[in-house]
Amino acid sequence: MLTRRQWLRAGLTASIAAQAAKTAEASADQESVAFIHLTDPHVIYPPGVHPRLLEMRKMFASTIATLPQDLDRIQRDGLGSFAFITGDLIDVYSFLAADGGIVDNQVEAFSRIVNNAPLPVYCTLGNHDVQHYGVYQDRLLADQSVVGPARAAWIRQLPCFQSGVYYAMHRTVGGVTYRIVALDNGFYGHQPSYLPKREAAYTFGRGQLDWLRRICADDPAEPLVLGIHIPPTGVMLEELTGALGKRTAPTVMLVGHLHNRQDVTEIKTADLTLYRVDTPGYCNSRDHWRQVRLLADRIQVGAVGKPGEVQLTIPLG
Ligand SMILES: [Fe+2]
Repeated sequence: MLTRRQWLRAGLTASIAAQAAKTAEASADQESVAFIHLTDPHVIYPPGVHPRLLEMRKMFASTIATLPQDLDRIQRDGLGSFAFITGDLIDVYSFLAADGGIVDNQVEAFSRIVNNAPLPVYCTLGNHDVQHYGVYQDRLLADQSVVGPARAAWIRQLPCFQSGVYYAMHRTVGGVTYRIVALDNGFYGHQPSYLPKREAAYTFGRGQLDWLRRICADDPAEPLVLGIHIPPTGVMLEELTGALGKRTAPTVMLVGHLHNRQDVTEIKTADLTLYRVDTPGYCNSRDHWRQVRLLADRIQVGAVGKPGEVQLTIPLG
């Protein structure tokens, strides 16, 4: 008979087993762990995509070539033991095709980058990763009703999603165990513009929040690093802090989505201290990524595009 604590740990361990096996460093106690935060590459795999859509999205055409090169460089220069990419991995899950059909092989194209990368790549999903683009009256037509097959494709194709589109893993540094959590908040019910307008619903969803609340209650003193695509504000931030509960160590929240911010913002509540770290979109510049280093007594948030330069040091105590 398992105790409650053993049961909670067993469930978590199962969800990260594949990644732990892939990276021997994951379970070892190390002096420090450095990784790269990168977001919004918006990779496009063009074969078969409607030419009008390729024209409208041409600003993102280069990342399919540069991302593998930069992952190679990160590994070669020893800048991080893994990459954490917080969403809008691809421009969309599916496109209207040149022949009037659907091109839905973008997840496979991204998975080839991950599978050929010389270091582990962990991801979260963004709003574009569960979206379709069509053309309507010569304008872009966005539609998130493909969320079901999109999530299924991500789970099939990427090792980090093998247990679902949100998950957690551990790294131990000088006896301190960090929990790294990938969350999913990219779906907000975007409907095609020819349907009646309605409010977007920005939420993590009850199932994900219940899971987060459960794993966070396991150890309130564990420092957390969260990867989240859309920066939570308003009700979504309340949902998040409610699930995190009372915490004695700081929580760092790595976010994307906005493409042009590189601030670190401290959010204090009666129960916790949260640092929101915005990294600008890789889709705008291949220098848009930063190094994060976890140590036994502090977290160093590196400056964007300047490995070795620290933008902010967050003490654990
Ligand atoms: Fe984006």
